[in-house]
Amino acid sequence: MKMTLPDILFSFSLFSVLGYLLEVLYRSARQGRLVNPGLLWGPYLILYGTGAVVLMQSVSLLHGYNLALKALAYLVITTGLELASAFIAQRLFKRRLWDYSDEPFNYRGHICLKFSFYWVLLAFAFEYLILPWYQGVAARLSGDARAIFAGMVVSAMLVDFMVVSARSFLDLKPKEKEVLDAQFLEKAAPLLKKPEVMKLAEYRHHRQKTRLDHVVEVAYLSFLWGRRLGLDCDAIVRGALLHDLFFYDWLREGPRLHGFRHHNIALRNARKIIRLSRKEEDIIRKHMWPLTVIPPRYAESMIVSLVDTYCCTMDYIPRNRSDRCLAVSTVRVNAGPEDRQV
Ligand SMILES: [Fe+2]
Ligand SMILES: [Fe+2]
Repeated sequence: MKMTLPDILFSFSLFSVLGYLLEVLYRSARQGRLVNPGLLWGPYLILYGTGAVVLMQSVSLLHGYNLALKALAYLVITTGLELASAFIAQRLFKRRLWDYSDEPFNYRGHICLKFSFYWVLLAFAFEYLILPWYQGVAARLSGDARAIFAGMVVSAMLVDFMVVSARSFLDLKPKEKEVLDAQFLEKAAPLLKKPEVMKLAEYRHHRQKTRLDHVVEVAYLSFLWGRRLGLDCDAIVRGALLHDLFFYDWLREGPRLHGFRHHNIALRNARKIIRLSRKEEDIIRKHMWPLTVIPPRYAESMIVSLVDTYCCTMDYIPRNRSDRCLAVSTVRVNAGPEDRQV
């Protein structure tokens, strides 16, 4: 079966969604409660989408072979995919999505003989029942409809994957978090003792959050990324704390086209209270990129810009925010009155 890229994306998307439904039904029925079977938040399972695309190619390649040889090939393909997925989930995301440890003939709980047998049956069902149905569905849908469906699913999956990866990347052990919080506080405290910076607490920034809450949150998350990536965290913390140093309620007052201008206002204000390095200036000046057109010059500026965009977006999505607010309140409690020059 010759497949073009749009064919691959459509079948990958469709079977990712169908596989998710199958797993939700199976696991929820077994556990008596609604279970999200995947690593990602959305209704798709990459393993099923990938498996379907690989099986489609395998069906073509194995055409004309006897059943025993096909069964062996399906066993290797499906069990191999299951093992690879289990390793990726555990190594990269520290998650165990299934555990066959109680099943006989299992390998580290990742694969087992019983489920490998089920996968072979499913592969045959795929070849003789599901694939003909899929080909009928694909033929009835227009190219545009298939492209729109695939575009929506793959885009959602990519965003979902990036968010889950980022959270996993920043996942800290309690001891590690304690050390990093102390390091952040040490770097942030001198600026947080400046009355000009503390004055940001008087301005509402997004919803119920003050501008001070916002800049501390951006500085803290950018600092965590900076540590993970080995960047200049002094510049990140100072630039991020000053990136929105302007003193007006941007929803009601201030200059026209605030979004395109406030980075320059913040930069002018920041220069009045401390000496900025070139990197710190770049962080403040480019934090609204791509609105500011010229891209960030330093990795530190790019990190702050991305984290700022992320924080702004998340401020308008209702969720449990206790994890991030903890750091903000800690910093504000510990900052104290101004007693140190920056
Ligand atoms: Fe801003
Ligand atoms: Fe901001």
